[in-house]
Amino acid sequence: MIAIALGASLVPAVAHAQSVASATSPDGTVQVDVTIDGDGRAAYAITRKGKPVLAPSKLGFLFTDAVKIDRRLSVTGQETYDHDDSWTQPWGEWKSIRNNYRALKVHLKETTTLARGFTVNFRLYNDGVGFRYEFPDQPNLAQANIADELTEFSFASAGTAWWKPAFLWNREEYLYNKTPLSSVANADTPITIKFEDGTHVALHEAALVDYSGMAVARTEGNTLRAALHPGAGEPKVQKKGAWNTPWRTLIIADDAAGVYHSHLMLNLNEPNKLGDVSWIKPGKFAGVWWNMIKGEWSWARGPKHGATNANVKRYIDFAAENSIPHVLVEGWNVGWDGDWFGNGHDMDFAQPTDDFDVDMLVAYGKKKGVRLIGHHETGGAATHYENQFDKAFKFAADHNYMVVKTGYVTDAGQMEREDADGKQYREWHQGQWMVNHQIRVVQTAAKYKVGIDSHEPVKGTGLHRTYPNWVAREGMRGMEYNAWGGKNPPEHEANVVFTRMLEGPMDFTPGILSLKGERDSDILSTIAKQLALYVVIYSPVQMVADTPENYAKYPEAMKFIRDVPTDWEDTRVLNGEIGDFVTIARKERSGKNWYVGAVGDEEERNVTFNLNFLTPGKKYTAEIYRDGDDADYRTEKRHSIAIERRTLTSADSLNMRIAPGGGFAIRLVEG
Ligand code: NOJ
Ligand code: CA
Repeated sequence: MIAIALGASLVPAVAHAQSVASATSPDGTVQVDVTIDGDGRAAYAITRKGKPVLAPSKLGFLFTDAVKIDRRLSVTGQETYDHDDSWTQPWGEWKSIRNNYRALKVHLKETTTLARGFTVNFRLYNDGVGFRYEFPDQPNLAQANIADELTEFSFASAGTAWWKPAFLWNREEYLYNKTPLSSVANADTPITIKFEDGTHVALHEAALVDYSGMAVARTEGNTLRAALHPGAGEPKVQKKGAWNTPWRTLIIADDAAGVYHSHLMLNLNEPNKLGDVSWIKPGKFAGVWWNMIKGEWSWARGPKHGATNANVKRYIDFAAENSIPHVLVEGWNVGWDGDWFGNGHDMDFAQPTDDFDVDMLVAYGKKKGVRLIGHHETGGAATHYENQFDKAFKFAADHNYMVVKTGYVTDAGQMEREDADGKQYREWHQGQWMVNHQIRVVQTAAKYKVGIDSHEPVKGTGLHRTYPNWVAREGMRGMEYNAWGGKNPPEHEANVVFTRMLEGPMDFTPGILSLKGERDSDILSTIAKQLALYVVIYSPVQMVADTPENYAKYPEAMKFIRDVPTDWEDTRVLNGEIGDFVTIARKERSGKNWYVGAVGDEEERNVTFNLNFLTPGKKYTAEIYRDGDDADYRTEKRHSIAIERRTLTSADSLNMRIAPGGGFAIRLVEG
């Protein structure tokens, strides 16, 4: 009885919350309200067009060695200011990015003797909100040992959520769940939610630096709470002096397309720190890869070794014939013999195997205009990798590699760290130490003018703005899962566009025109969909992932892969529903041509869209690669494709059929 009475006495305190600060986005669409209740608990709420998006949601921290911060807070001041400018992306989905927000900074302090103070810095955009905590250096929090954040996201409506589980052994490589928001478990961000009224919200973070990644855990009803990724032990995050969290971000839009169009995450990152990055040239890459993933070749030395002089030369020839500027080679270095999964101690990233004559191959490629992409598979031995950073990246630079692909193949929580004192730890892929490790990789690579494509990475939070040599990353179930059992279902890419793609460039490795995985198993796609992925999935370094022998069987479809660029001036999501279908139009950088790609799910459907993005008054030759009338991912007709030419203008609209498991790709050539 007493417990119930005590509990009950705490509830009305929330109702007594007083508004202490408020601001709207530049055009008034989005509003943030900060309140403090009778117990001194601070909360923030978000409305859009007057409708609640987040109900009052708590703020605060748990520490491992100090009393938590959540009650007995008071406001000591606040400021607002406006910002509006534009900046140019060296490469990207859009060339020019407008950064227009209103800032609201709310200064809070405990009324207790600890008197710990901090600022909540909100940036209100017309399409969402970012906010972060900022702590000044202070005697009662000189060292913050953070057990977790108490930051809540208390959604004001029921809805449907698309999310990937967090903290499981296979890192970020899980299929998306579609559940009621009220059934979300531990989820990684981005998590995308569709409210019952159709409003779409994507919850994520920006500028993840010297902190651990934020997952979320549902507390009750439609409320999620920040759940930080662990590290080797408690606390999850350690900070000294003045510090801040990454930005917690909520994109809010009328529909799925609106979520994709937001630049909020990029804008919340710091500008380019590398200066001239003209040495990064977006482009496609072929790779000594798919045969390894399928198990026909090996990374290790021996009779099945893939990275031999003869094979690499053949891939260079194929790349040159198809204007592909790079060839990825995996298994080129010493260290793969034996069991490398979770064990990268033998990996030497400056020591090629005897049957890989790097100087000869670099020279051979140079004659043909093709550069190699090196591969650094750490097997999770992160410190072992750091110990050879300079040697590894000097080797890459000396051999003219523009990009290195990294890998961290080990189970979650099994990353190896060894400190200078010889002590060993097991870290998590998205913990604070690994977040910092990944930035050290990118910084070191930049010193040598090398780009990074990270596999088994830390999720993307827009740091490619700050470090434009961080050209791509994996961080989801890519094409490789189609080589193995348990293939990606047809809806996968329509999920990925509105979830994982919100993190930025993705090394999905499209273009398996053979539609065959290991032991001749069928991939759940049509051939037209494989072409569509070059438009739908964005990466400045996009793989042409099948083998030269397989591409030779599909010369007509191959033309689209040869033509499609990997760098864009403008991007428009023309339509889409998460997990069902999406159509994206992109205009090539420094050119006049447009490309359209669409993917569906397991159902047959028609999509209609108009071409009003084209320049009015101009004629375009449309090269259309669509599912054949009998195409179907479930039958031998998955290779059925119709390739047509039409003349179109901005006044036209198209009605296109997408087969089950299908898609289409269109090249629109001006003039
Ligand atoms: C998994 C990566 O995703 C894949 O691309 C790579 O080939 C293997 N690990 C080996 O490093
Ligand atoms: Ca992987």
